[in-house]
Amino acid sequence: MDFHGKRVLVTGGTSGIGAALVQQLAQRGAQVATCGRDAVRLAEATSRTGVTGWIADLADPAAGADLVARAADALGGLDVVVASAAVQHQQAFTQGWTAADDTAVLAELRTNLAGPIALAGAAGPHLRRSGGVFTALTSALAYSPKKGAPVYCASKAGLSVFLRALRYQWEDERAGVCVQEALMPLVATPMTAGRNDGAMSADAAAAQIAAGIARRVPVIAVGRARSFRIVRRVAPGVADSLLRNG
Ligand SMILES: NC(=O)c1ccc[n+]([C@@H]2O[C@H](COP(=O)([O-])OP(=O)(O)OC[C@H]3O[C@@H](n4cnc5c(N)ncnc54)[C@H](OP(=O)(O)O)[C@@H]3O)[C@@H](O)[C@H]2O)c1
Repeated sequence: MDFHGKRVLVTGGTSGIGAALVQQLAQRGAQVATCGRDAVRLAEATSRTGVTGWIADLADPAAGADLVARAADALGGLDVVVASAAVQHQQAFTQGWTAADDTAVLAELRTNLAGPIALAGAAGPHLRRSGGVFTALTSALAYSPKKGAPVYCASKAGLSVFLRALRYQWEDERAGVCVQEALMPLVATPMTAGRNDGAMSADAAAAQIAAGIARRVPVIAVGRARSFRIVRRVAPGVADSLLRNG
């Protein structure tokens, strides 16, 4: 795929991997729209790249559909939709639990799992028209969880399974819609700040995602996620122990 003139929505384009992807796709001539919750970061990202953006909280059940409608309206349709926005919180289930913990967990699940699902639903008619691509970012932690962020890992595992079933549906439609899982390794971003020694850069990760979108492959295994998949297949216990305390 040549990105020139392509109409692209990237959620979470105000930071980290999403921000790098927005910048790279815009540089390659795509018309890009994005979102985030923080107005200052959004203004900085849109003015730096010249892309369109809206404040949206994807933990809100109606936000995905609203965002897709705005982006399709502003860009005149959609060729590519990338679900990158997510949060990762640490939880200690062994150390007591409060109603506030329940509220935080629900917001994490809504953002990371229900958000991309709503986005996929709303984007469907647009992608059917364009024969487009839906891409969502998961993690090696969807396959081998780490103990410190059980809900994040569960949300990414759920998203991974959702993407496979969604792909089956679109394959059977024969409408030319491609569903992709971008399987990410550890990447140096604000999400991983303070614990990302040896991580790949967001720019390098975004470049591999862009290449994978262009090739329309079902799974984009980025950086070390490629070797992780092999280890996971041949020695799942080793993969688990590598990520357990990450
Ligand atoms: N970094 C890694 O090592 C790594 C590894 C595996 C997978 N991933 C995945 O890669 C993706 C990008 O992560 P990142 O590391 O680049 O994270 P990041 O730097 O923290 O960026 C997250 C982005 O999502 C937005 N966001 C968060 N919650 C949102 C909400 N409720 N509604 C709308 N926007 C929201 C943030 O903007 P606001 O805060 O302004 O809302 C920000 O733009 C995520 O799906 C993550 O799970 C990352």
